[in-house]
Amino acid sequence: MCSIIGYSGDDTAAPIIVKGLRRMEYRGYDSVGVATESNNQIELKKGVGKVEEVNTKVHLEKLPGKIGIGHTRWATHGKVTDSNAHPHPSNSGKIAIVHNGIIENFDELKNELQKDGYKFKSETDSEVIANLLQKNFEISNNVKDTMMKTVTQLKGHYSFIVMFENGQLAAARFHEPLIVGVGDNNYFLSSDVLGFIEQTDNAIYIDNGNFVLIDQNKFQILDFDGNEIKPQITKVSKEFADVYKGDYAHFTLKEISEQAETVFSAGENTKKAIKESADYLKHSKNVFLTGSGTSYNATLIAKYLLSKYAKIKTESIIASELQFSPESIEPNSILIAISQSGESADVLEAVDIAKQNDCKIISIINSLTSSLARESDIVIGMNCGPEIGVAATKSFTSQMIILYKIVQELSKDIEIDFEEISSSISQILEEHNMIKKIASEIKEISDIYVLGRGIHYPIAIESALKIKELTYIHAEGIAGGELKHGPLALMDSNVFVIIINPEDSTYQDTLTSAREIKARGARIIGISNKNSDAYDFWIKIPKTKELTYPISETIPIQLLSYYAALEKDTDPDYPRNLAKSVTVK
Ligand code: BG6
Repeated sequence: MCSIIGYSGDDTAAPIIVKGLRRMEYRGYDSVGVATESNNQIELKKGVGKVEEVNTKVHLEKLPGKIGIGHTRWATHGKVTDSNAHPHPSNSGKIAIVHNGIIENFDELKNELQKDGYKFKSETDSEVIANLLQKNFEISNNVKDTMMKTVTQLKGHYSFIVMFENGQLAAARFHEPLIVGVGDNNYFLSSDVLGFIEQTDNAIYIDNGNFVLIDQNKFQILDFDGNEIKPQITKVSKEFADVYKGDYAHFTLKEISEQAETVFSAGENTKKAIKESADYLKHSKNVFLTGSGTSYNATLIAKYLLSKYAKIKTESIIASELQFSPESIEPNSILIAISQSGESADVLEAVDIAKQNDCKIISIINSLTSSLARESDIVIGMNCGPEIGVAATKSFTSQMIILYKIVQELSKDIEIDFEEISSSISQILEEHNMIKKIASEIKEISDIYVLGRGIHYPIAIESALKIKELTYIHAEGIAGGELKHGPLALMDSNVFVIIINPEDSTYQDTLTSAREIKARGARIIGISNKNSDAYDFWIKIPKTKELTYPISETIPIQLLSYYAALEKDTDPDYPRNLAKSVTVK
């Protein structure tokens, strides 16, 4: 997924665009580019690397003009090169585009355009849009007609912004997010409110199959058939403006450190929705859960909690897998979709399939204005503030807190102490030294396994994902009881095993597993409130009630992954090849 941005107004465009791209860099950070229009000329600068690096090298902010477009790339089609970076000019140079998404029929369109004599400088699918717009504009000499023609020819999921040498801007949305920011005498086009939130909190969320025309200070929204659409302005909550690291070296460490507070705000802005959801769950025959990445791991926690405490059988389905077994969703079921961003394409597709089966959609989301929120019947807000670090941290604990609150509505047996959870997190956040020491021990290691039983098994899976995302070390979550049925063969002095072992019903069996692994020479990192001679390294967590452990034990793993990333000199906030939420399939 990439970030796209456009500006038309009274101020110099380039500095505003570069600032917006910096704030949306979590969406893709392979290359950056800006194009502006001044005196009916389009000027363009781009390069491989992050916004800061490229801006320092080619001075993106120095581009002249009050109209411009910009892009940060997460490569899908074509390697990470300068020529594949956006913006892409059309052959005439009178048009430039930035694109987010995938044009599935780009090959076909490219062949046709090449037959018409068009030349292509990049390997991307996106460049096709630029030349197609030029061809259609040369026929109609009218931006509206050009857009209407071009969107009928493109197949795939996309949002793109086009700038014409006469200073007109246009943008279209087909499944990929596109938001308009309305300022005083200026307009913004962006993939995310973060792109313009510093300048205005008036946002218009463009619906699917619509396009926008901006000409100086004239602004129109039309559907793909050319019918005028009345703009709906939404006031964006200013909390989204707070995407600063403060005194933290990285967003990831800042977001890990915010969790003692965010556990209290989880779901607080949508309390009624939690009660409503519990009510639907109580009366529903079939309940399905879905998500991607860390959010999928949260569905495994939900499955455990709903079955153990509320006696509700559920099925967790990886969002991208649902399309291969759509029949597995019985009509009139409930689908709980979990997504931090609310923009993950796989989750949106899974919800689409469920809606075709008349399912009720309950979503747990951090961004209440996201596409998923607009597709859902009930929306529960994680309310943990913007999460910029690509690897999910605070959003995972907020997801767990919300699941706890839903189950609390369904069963009086569940004992949750939010104060204790918050103070446990604070205690762990006060003591990083042991974790930093272990991080320096594991930096050369190529394989790490994380073992847990019961509710700690999904935590083991999430922990392995964190280690993979942040350190690029191969890591795997293992169900404690499965050890002897295979993974034990992998245990030797070259591997580290993290044992999630708080003193609850799983304690004894898991300690036995630790001893079996130690007997094979592997080194053990024990995460527990109680030390043991089976551990080579002990990460202490406070002794608490049973259901505090799944949250408190997650924090040391997040910190360990973060410090190991620093030891390995990887970028904790923007891990290679990843993006904060993947809006392409
Ligand atoms: C990935 C992120 O792209 O998407 C993960 O790197 C995240 O951290 C996953 O868990 C799912 O994203 P979301 O926004 O749907 O929860």
